Amino acid sequence: MNVPRSAFVAGGTGSIGEGIVKFLLQAGYQVFVPVRATDKSSRLQEFVRGVGPGVLELVSGDLADPASVSACRSEVQKKAPKLDLVVVSVGSSLYGHSLHQTAMADWNRLIVENLATHFLMIREFLNVLYEQNHGTFVTLTGPEADFVQAETGLVSVVAAAQKMMARVAAQEASGSGVRVYSVTSKNPVATRQRGEQNEPDWLSASDLGRYVWALAENRVKHPERALHELHTLKDLEKELV
Ligand SMILES: NC(=O)c1ccc[n+]([C@@H]2O[C@H](COP(=O)([O-])OP(=O)(O)OC[C@H]3O[C@@H](n4cnc5c(N)ncnc54)[C@H](OP(=O)(O)O)[C@@H]3O)[C@@H](O)[C@H]2O)c1
Repeated sequence: MNVPRSAFVAGGTGSIGEGIVKFLLQAGYQVFVPVRATDKSSRLQEFVRGVGPGVLELVSGDLADPASVSACRSEVQKKAPKLDLVVVSVGSSLYGHSLHQTAMADWNRLIVENLATHFLMIREFLNVLYEQNHGTFVTLTGPEADFVQAETGLVSVVAAAQKMMARVAAQEASGSGVRVYSVTSKNPVATRQRGEQNEPDWLSASDLGRYVWALAENRVKHPERALHELHTLKDLEKELV
């Protein structure tokens, strides 16, 4: 019997995450998405209605809360005999503040939403992959990790730390059956939310889903690289095998 492949997409209700979820459903995956708000889950369900052959499974989870992430992991493990792919597309932004004018509350919020969430995904869900000695763990990292722009500095600080977390986790996974990657679109990502502001040469959320799928299926030219940075669709297609 053919066991369907399964994925956990943290941030699957977000503007990039929903495109990844859709691509994986089209590729036949059983896709688990943690949700913390009903309106966001219905929005995602609406977006992927009728999309298959994969199946969407919503599980409750606040990814900033250790107990909730742990309960979420148990719920997923009850439903899926094994996880092939874990995707982390989680975080929030802060614009319009110089570092020296950033409120402590905003600092704390970004550290929790953009770093503690990623760390908890490593603690709980990367561990699932280690227990199986199998699976792919992919973090979506914003391009701000590598550039400085006035008044968006805190976003760069946490993106750079996310990227380093992925690099450390990738090195620690070497020699095991687990692979860890960070994927970045160097341009902004075309999403439903941006609508008419999307530019034709930007990668879409679904294109990123295709690349994440290719990493999980070992269909990229350089599976040994931890960092995957993409510019355009042409560029992405050159990286696939
Ligand atoms: N060019 C690039 O490569 C690029 C560009 C932008 C972003 N990114 C990366 O992609 C990530 C996602 O970006 P996006 O634009 O899709 O952001 P988004 O639309 O704001 O989505 C963020 C997602 O994170 C979830 N989330 C945040 N905190 C959570 C928590 N405590 N518990 C559960 N879920 C939580 C949100 O859940 P709710 O639906 O419940 O709010 C949502 O699903 C960013 O953080 C960044 O790392 C990459």
